[in-house]
Amino acid sequence: MTIVIHLNIYINMSVEFSQKTLHEFEGLLDRYPTRKAASIPTLFLAQRDFGYISNEVIEYVSGLLDLTVAETNNIVSFYTMFYREKMGKHVIQVCHTLSCSLLGAANIVDHLKSKLGISPGETTLDNQFSLLKVECLGACGTAPAMRINDDYYESLTLNKIDELIDKLAVKSVNHPSAEGPVQ
Ligand code: FES
Repeated sequence: MTIVIHLNIYINMSVEFSQKTLHEFEGLLDRYPTRKAASIPTLFLAQRDFGYISNEVIEYVSGLLDLTVAETNNIVSFYTMFYREKMGKHVIQVCHTLSCSLLGAANIVDHLKSKLGISPGETTLDNQFSLLKVECLGACGTAPAMRINDDYYESLTLNKIDELIDKLAVKSVNHPSAEGPVQ
């Protein structure tokens, strides 16, 4: 008689932290009382490594944190800083909450739409720029404000935006892997 045993273990090999990131993850766990409490920094590590939070990443992170997929999905969908699809190299987040709105956020979005040829939620064909409209960035005193990746740009004018975008575009051509704020 032949006995067939089915192992219902799902191992997703396509998404996995590198050894370096696993080490960072373990460092995080030392700083939080529970695995669940480390969910946001862990998701940031995942977004940094994988570019965005796909369904596979949600499954992987859920396994690491002892969370259900639904719990991780709830966290990811609540916070706008987590991207559910592939983004461009430079993610431009324009605040459109009250202070920024009163000081011209709509003009800034329109200007970027026409300069980059994309609408909010889209990425340029060369994958250099993604444009997003976001809620308050916490820079209301120096509105209008926007963020490009981890860097804030405040008291914006259309000229200032043109300079920033042009410098980033040139930097991308000359130094494809360069990151960091425009000086
Ligand atoms: Fe735009 Fe707060 S309203 S940064």
